[in-house]
Amino acid sequence: MIQLPGLIDPHVHVREPGATHKEDWNSATAAALAGGFTMILAMPNTRPPITDAHTLQIALEPAQKNARCDYAQYLGAGADNIEIAPLLAQQVAGLKMYLDQTYGPLRLDEMTLWMEHFRRWPQSSPIVAHAESRTMAAVILMASLFNRSVHLAHVSLAEEILLIREAKTRGVKVTCEVAPHHLFLTEEDIPRIGSGRGEVRPRLARPSDRDALWANLDVIDCFATDHAPHTLEEKDSNNPPPGFPGLETALPLLLMAVHEGKLTMADLVQRMVINPRRIFELPEQQETWVEVDDDVTWHIEAAKMYTRCGWTPFEGMPVRGIVRRVVLRGQEVYKDGQVLAMPGTGNRIR
Ligand code: DOR
Ligand code: ZN
Repeated sequence: MIQLPGLIDPHVHVREPGATHKEDWNSATAAALAGGFTMILAMPNTRPPITDAHTLQIALEPAQKNARCDYAQYLGAGADNIEIAPLLAQQVAGLKMYLDQTYGPLRLDEMTLWMEHFRRWPQSSPIVAHAESRTMAAVILMASLFNRSVHLAHVSLAEEILLIREAKTRGVKVTCEVAPHHLFLTEEDIPRIGSGRGEVRPRLARPSDRDALWANLDVIDCFATDHAPHTLEEKDSNNPPPGFPGLETALPLLLMAVHEGKLTMADLVQRMVINPRRIFELPEQQETWVEVDDDVTWHIEAAKMYTRCGWTPFEGMPVRGIVRRVVLRGQEVYKDGQVLAMPGTGNRIR
């Protein structure tokens, strides 16, 4: 048995408000605890998107009522909230900027809008960017021009991780995260997963991209799930939305990688606890830990999960290491497959 600190996931799509048939604060935070996460940061591309004080309240109300782990909510950068967004900075996890095609209406195409947000958003609060390939190069330039930090979400390509290495070497204040699906799956897995189910943004990439992520592990600051649940019916439809659930598979997949010698336990804790806490200035959670039996091999099975979406792209994959027990602020919140935390016991950390 090994003990880890409570994990932090800085990238979760909770789906409430607006799409609670996919997930809500109750089910997302239950899935988080089952996966060993005791704190999650919630993305703003809900319906309505979270872009002002009113919509922030619409997200925080059900969170306060139903969250079972600790949390904060991101604000989305839009064309219409340039003036008011900074006023909310102290109440949110950070500002999320969608600069490439994604799920939902939050997308900033014009670089003039990026500049206005970069100019105004407080230095003390994180900016997280969804920016792929050359868009990533552009947003790194923006961070450099405004001499502020930017955190790059779900890095998936060799050219991206190499670009980030260069930027870091040259002193640009850039940090980044990689999602487990880009470390463990490639486009070669899509026939097995199914084409609709295999849709995700950024897309599953080539084996050479996956290998580049592993080869540049030292550049990766965080592992973040980008937990983006959609139902099977939606994924198997003619217009499948992009996204994979990930909260309940991230730790077992990464523990398997530890077992295989691809990274150390210290590497894992650095990227799932220490670095996210530093980058997002999150409080330490007292008396909080995860007990893992690292000696068990099992097979991933969506039927046993707490996510409402009912499937996983990792179905049937052998993994090693299972979460046995989670303690959050002194309370036993998960034990042997059962989430014990009551809805509403999670703390808002901002
Ligand atoms: O695959 C994705 N799903 N990528 C995104 O950028 C958004 C996410 C979602 O919200 O479903
Ligand atoms: Zn996302």
